[in-house]
Amino acid sequence: MTGPHPGEPGAANPGTPPWWRTDVVYQLYPRSFADASGDGVGDLEGIRAHLDHLSWLGVDALWLSPIYPSPMADAGYDVSDHRDVDPVFGDLETFDRLLAEVHARGMRLMLDWVPNHTSDQHPWFLDSRSSRDSPRRSWYLWRNGTPDAPPNNWLAQFTGGPAWTWDERTGQWYLHLFLPEQPDLDWSEPAVREAMHEVLRFWLRRGVDGFRADVVHLIGKDPALPDHPPELVGTNIVHSHDLPVTHELLRGIRAVLDEFPGDRAMVGEVNLRSPALVAPYHGVGDELHLAFNFLPMLGPWDADFWRSTISDTLAALSAVEAWPTWVLSNHDNPRHRTRYGGSEERARAAAVLLLTLPGTPFLYAGEELGLEDAVVSPEQRVDPGGRDGCRAPVPWTPDAGHGWPTQPWLPFPPDAAARNAATQRADPTSVLHLYRRLLSARRGSPALHRGSWTAVPAPDGVLAYERRADGDRRVVAVNFRDAPADLPLAEPATVQVASTGRDEGAAWSGTLLPSEAVVLVPTPT
Ligand code: GLC
Repeated sequence: MTGPHPGEPGAANPGTPPWWRTDVVYQLYPRSFADASGDGVGDLEGIRAHLDHLSWLGVDALWLSPIYPSPMADAGYDVSDHRDVDPVFGDLETFDRLLAEVHARGMRLMLDWVPNHTSDQHPWFLDSRSSRDSPRRSWYLWRNGTPDAPPNNWLAQFTGGPAWTWDERTGQWYLHLFLPEQPDLDWSEPAVREAMHEVLRFWLRRGVDGFRADVVHLIGKDPALPDHPPELVGTNIVHSHDLPVTHELLRGIRAVLDEFPGDRAMVGEVNLRSPALVAPYHGVGDELHLAFNFLPMLGPWDADFWRSTISDTLAALSAVEAWPTWVLSNHDNPRHRTRYGGSEERARAAAVLLLTLPGTPFLYAGEELGLEDAVVSPEQRVDPGGRDGCRAPVPWTPDAGHGWPTQPWLPFPPDAAARNAATQRADPTSVLHLYRRLLSARRGSPALHRGSWTAVPAPDGVLAYERRADGDRRVVAVNFRDAPADLPLAEPATVQVASTGRDEGAAWSGTLLPSEAVVLVPTPT
């Protein structure tokens, strides 16, 4: 952690970049991190018991996927009570204890906040659904129609069917961009805005450092709810999901965070898949602090793809003075090692890239062990969106139980006898130790955590760049090819970190092994 904690002196020191620009954030999927209660599902006490792993690794901030009471139709992204903890994870007391211990270790904690929809079991929706005259009818998007014709052509995520469900009792349709169990809130209703702001205040008062805002670009809606152009039905990138009114709503949300001392921050899931479309969601420093950049999670392992993604991202965000984010894996997409063909060498090189780009990196629990997605049989499937593979439990030990007191809710990822925290901690050549060396190199180098980025000429299939701040410099080179590549530099350099562990501390040889990546410290003569 490089910035002070909320309330500590210096939180607003103008010369120091805020923590959310310099920290490395680690996403934890609570169901799958560690189980203390022995019911096969991870929980907050399990997280607390493994904070040593995270401090030793050297991450700065934790983001927990939803921990609120939920019927779990969408693994907690269907919230039925915003101000409590689901019993499967613990309770408010265990949460407070976890938060205190995270802070005591000098780390920060962000929660997932789900503003676009609630569970259909949330008291707000039960009330809204009870009658057309309910005072909360206007909290959700109810529309007239007939049972055979939904009000527009929008499709729901995960079901592929209409984004509308007909309510027999009250004879209207309600909108749900996700499952029917996740009705969309109507943010044009002032009482909804106030209620959701109060949810933020509830957790901010408890001391959380910020939030990851789930599909936050969807909260603004054109009240006419017009049809999507037919060719865009079923995609995320439609005008109706990118409206001016959303920016007004985001300014209101930001004002709530700004009521609290200590740089509370929000990173938004703005899934518009283009840096130019996402950039405006930062406003003029009065909307989101950060927004996810999902392009790398969707693109190939290819030098040209990365070169153009990096320069497009930097161009779009610097135009609005916003700060980039980088993410390779999360709970919604196949893990990057799986996407990159299962190769450990590529997964290692990708770690070098992720932790040396200009912007805030987000790690996803288990990537530091080089995990691939679990193979989940049809009988073991839980998620209606088919995302179980990347949500498999984290293996802690080499034995058959892998540190879980009972069989967990999903199968373990492949090769857990070797890809587990204990085995890799004992092996200095492991992926885990590579992540630790990278995190330490990053922390110790102003160039890496906040410096400029310039491409360095490199042969085909190699991406090389220089980072520079306050006289501190690093050159990073990533070989995307499965063949060696020469990268002579104009000046001598020392290898600080190599994805293969080769030659660290020695002079740069000028040659990258297949799928190797290095962090070099130039030593001007
Ligand atoms: C986001 C979450 C995803 C969830 C969806 C609906 O995309 O990351 O897991 O299913 O929103 O809340």
